[in-house]
Amino acid sequence: MIKTFTISGKTEKEFRLVEIGPEHVEQYLDFMHQVSSDSHFMNRYGDEVLLDAEAVQVERERIQAINDDDREIRLSVFDGEKIVGNIVVRRISKHRKTAHRCSIGIGIRKEYHGMGLGTFLMEQAVAFAKEAGYTNMELGVLSDNLPAQGLYKKMGFIECGRIPEAFRLDDGTTADEIVMYRKL
Ligand SMILES: CC(C)(COP(=O)(O)OP(=O)(O)OC[C@H]1O[C@@H](n2cnc3c(N)ncnc32)[C@H](O)[C@@H]1OP(=O)(O)O)[C@@H](O)C(=O)NCCC(=O)NCCS
Repeated sequence: MIKTFTISGKTEKEFRLVEIGPEHVEQYLDFMHQVSSDSHFMNRYGDEVLLDAEAVQVERERIQAINDDDREIRLSVFDGEKIVGNIVVRRISKHRKTAHRCSIGIGIRKEYHGMGLGTFLMEQAVAFAKEAGYTNMELGVLSDNLPAQGLYKKMGFIECGRIPEAFRLDDGTTADEIVMYRKL
């Protein structure tokens, strides 16, 4: 566990911030399944987040790989035993020319939106990334995901590109990917 905290002014609830390990794999997949079902804003649809034994093993290894890399981190917010929010900081690659760049991915269960958890997790990710020696942080976001774009702009990210029709949704519509970045 990293720390226990409350978000002042927004909720008096007590949360725990945890760098999750392989022992949290079931809680993590349960979280990812819900967040990916809540909206079309995550990379996968909820039904693509599998919960069978093979998926659990694959995810356990992914979590372990991040634990083993001192320049990557997966941080989760727990409400009791349930993961309610998560952020990951990853390298862009292991090569020297791009060693200054990291990417992030974030999600919060919808019943916990608007409490400040997204801001809190972004602050933790930025602090970790600076400490790990990155100078640039990058992300991609769907063009219709206005809440996330609001969070990223608040955290100092600017739009630096757009991939047309990057996402083809089940209803036949498409969304662009907006590429954003900030200096650390
Ligand atoms: C995007 C997300 C992480 C924001 O998390 P959150 O905990 O609700 O964010 P916060 O409460 O810290 O709000 C941070 C800022 O985001 C913006 N924001 C939040 N909700 C918003 C909304 N509905 N419309 C516009 N801006 C919004 C605001 O700028 C807000 O700052 P403020 O409260 O000072 O005005 C959350 O909505 C989420 O998980 N969505 C589903 C998954 C997702 O979209 N992940 C990102 C994929 S790129």
